[in-house]
Amino acid sequence: MREHWTIQVRFERISEIVCEPGVLSHGVLTAKALAAPQILLIHDPLVAEHARILAERLLSDGRTVTTKAWTIDEHDKNLNTVSQLYDWFGDHLVRRDSLVVALGGGVLTDTVGFAAATYLRGIAWVAIPTTLLGQVDAAIGGKVAVNLPHGKNLAGAFHLPRAVYVDPDVLKTLPLVQWQAGVGEVMKTALIAGGTLFKRLNGPPVRFGDPVWANLIAETIRYKVNIVNQDLEESGARLYLNFGHTVAHGLEQALGYGTLTHGAAVGLGCRVALALSETTLGLDPRVRTQVESWMRLWQLPMTLSGVDWDRVLLAIGQDKKAQAGGQRWILLEQIGKPMVQKGLEPDLVRDTLTKVLDDSDSV
Ligand SMILES: NC(=O)c1ccc[n+]([C@@H]2O[C@H](COP(=O)([O-])OP(=O)(O)OC[C@H]3O[C@@H](n4cnc5c(N)ncnc54)[C@H](O)[C@@H]3O)[C@@H](O)[C@H]2O)c1
Ligand SMILES: [Zn+2]
Repeated sequence: MREHWTIQVRFERISEIVCEPGVLSHGVLTAKALAAPQILLIHDPLVAEHARILAERLLSDGRTVTTKAWTIDEHDKNLNTVSQLYDWFGDHLVRRDSLVVALGGGVLTDTVGFAAATYLRGIAWVAIPTTLLGQVDAAIGGKVAVNLPHGKNLAGAFHLPRAVYVDPDVLKTLPLVQWQAGVGEVMKTALIAGGTLFKRLNGPPVRFGDPVWANLIAETIRYKVNIVNQDLEESGARLYLNFGHTVAHGLEQALGYGTLTHGAAVGLGCRVALALSETTLGLDPRVRTQVESWMRLWQLPMTLSGVDWDRVLLAIGQDKKAQAGGQRWILLEQIGKPMVQKGLEPDLVRDTLTKVLDDSDSV
């Protein structure tokens, strides 16, 4: 199976996205995307073997490649680290026609992509995501960013990579918690896109590591690419991608980043968004039951205990002071039919949130 898309946006920028098991080790790597007098390959040490094979392939094609193994976690995703990267670029005489290749998770591709977007006013880069979240989300769509003391991803840019190579085979080493971190996007996309993605998840149980993930990843990317092509800068259809994320972001902020994986937060957020969709749009409650069976299979939390719900409501702008109509929610009329809904009553949001997610009484 080889999936292939292009994104074309303002200024004729094009990003090529290839999704194919084995693309890194033996697939076709587009010559044009990798054409540069100098390539700097920055990779997570946990995927060193993939980096070695890729570097060998590039070298045997006559390219100059400098490799850097680099461990970076969310706490290092900041301007300090970017500055160290600039120094490294300087040490290696990086020029406007150099190419940066980022091989790693979303933290690495976001940080390296941001450095590439800003060094010498922007140099070309290629993203090779190696986590589920990176493959279905972080490396797709042209957004790069680092965190600032005031918040996550506050310093950023739209800087499309020349190419994104998605090789589902690299996920073979991914621990459970990293599968969980990325699965929220697949689940969310299945709900807003419907179609074969939803059908596949509704078929025989899809466990982490199952080869069917190659198709699920490709279908999730295809949906996102279509939306990004319509709306790079998030004014319209791209809002749908926030399904389940209003509550997810509120939970992450109120509980502290890292307390829940992003996928766990999105799963909980989807449960609330589905419940709100049932009340306000008449969505069939069986959709939520179905989603809960996926969440059980993937060992995602279904409820939370000991949470200060006022803080969560504050974080999502639905506290007592919030005006009805302030917050925009992405809800579902039916599978594959998302819509933007304004004017939900704060009381309805509070009641639904606690009824669906609060587990304190049963502990
Ligand atoms: N730019 C965007 O549009 C966008 C979208 C979503 C998320 N993000 C960002 O992505 C980041 C999260 O990315 P993430 O979930 O990939 O986390 P991550 O990059 O921290 O990677 C998670 C862990 O997996 C390890 N790892 C990476 N590949 C592996 C492999 N193949 N096998 C085993 N271990 C592997 C990493 O070393 C790390 O310890 C966040 O900073 C988030 O803000 C960006
Ligand atoms: Zn997300």
